Amino acid sequence: MMFTTNDCFILTENNKIAPIILAIESSCDDTGVAVCAGGKILSNIIANQSVHEKYGGVVPELASRAHMQHIVPTVQTALQTANIELKDIDAIAFTQSPGLIGSLLVGVQFAKSMALALGKPLIAVHHMQAHVLANLIDENNHPEFPFLCVTVSGGHTQIVLAKSALELEVIGETIDDAAGEAFDKSAKLLGLPYPGGPLIDKYAKDGNPLAFKFAEPQMPNLDFSFSGLKTSILYFLQKQEAGFIEANLNDLCASIQHTIINILLKKLQKAVEQTNVKRVCIAGGVSANSGLRKALQQAGEKHDWKTYIPAFQYCTDNAAMIAITAHYKYLSGQFAGLDTSPTARAAW
Ligand code: KG4
Ligand code: ZN
Repeated sequence: MMFTTNDCFILTENNKIAPIILAIESSCDDTGVAVCAGGKILSNIIANQSVHEKYGGVVPELASRAHMQHIVPTVQTALQTANIELKDIDAIAFTQSPGLIGSLLVGVQFAKSMALALGKPLIAVHHMQAHVLANLIDENNHPEFPFLCVTVSGGHTQIVLAKSALELEVIGETIDDAAGEAFDKSAKLLGLPYPGGPLIDKYAKDGNPLAFKFAEPQMPNLDFSFSGLKTSILYFLQKQEAGFIEANLNDLCASIQHTIINILLKKLQKAVEQTNVKRVCIAGGVSANSGLRKALQQAGEKHDWKTYIPAFQYCTDNAAMIAITAHYKYLSGQFAGLDTSPTARAAW
């Protein structure tokens, strides 16, 4: 017999915390595998792919091949770290969309094979939903519902209203580039390697955020636009003399970062005013940005918001966020069939 002790986990008759979920994330260039028990993350392993560095961006074909090489050792390490055996697993979760189709196929196919071999159910997870729910991982500091989340990744920028773990509504999103792309494309203009976001963050620490002013788009609703910023930086740099970038790298990075953060936080403030929800979170790779983390905290103090920021390892792509999302789907009985397949783009 199984019985529920609260909304968050199940205690089986032999006192095992359940469900135990093995989750696979393979949407882009990182192979992630995590194990969670009763919503608690026991392991969160990531195999990065350095093969793309020299190409200035992720090469889909190479990403799929690297996932093929990494997936078995990553699953084994995640199980060993969690001290969990295959027979203990209650369900296998995977990222179904969005992402690079070849990369997704490796994770989905592996998950299906495991589910078939172990006779366990499958749980399909939407990557962007998982980024938002990364905010629920910390048992001691997570937002109550409803909350707002600015999800800023390499492919998406969204403001999400989370009414419950599985009721997420996108109330604003980018109409062109994502915030991560804005960081990476700006970094490219400065001659920095891919992915440039973390490098802008690093150089910005020693720069003046008000040294240079770049265009901020005026969008009427809760949507974002970042393509104008890239053009504004390009035109500005074209007017400068040789050696300007090298001489002003810290100030340029600080000013670009400041502009992107301003765009994000102004929209968040508008979203708070419209929804009257004052619990706010950030998520996605760009939420690892130290300037954004600090600015959100300061905005929270100024406007009396309660702010939440996932730990660094749960900001960029990881399987722990897939596991926590799968945990809630398990509790509500949302399973996928063995005929499931990935999709490169999909609404929630
Ligand atoms: O969520 P994520 O790991 O992958 C996607 O789902 O896209 O986000 C990757 C993005 C990249 O654009 C990367 O440059 C950006 O997150 N990023 C950062 C930082 N760390 C990662 N951007 C700014 N500052 C950072 N510290
Ligand atoms: Zn992501």
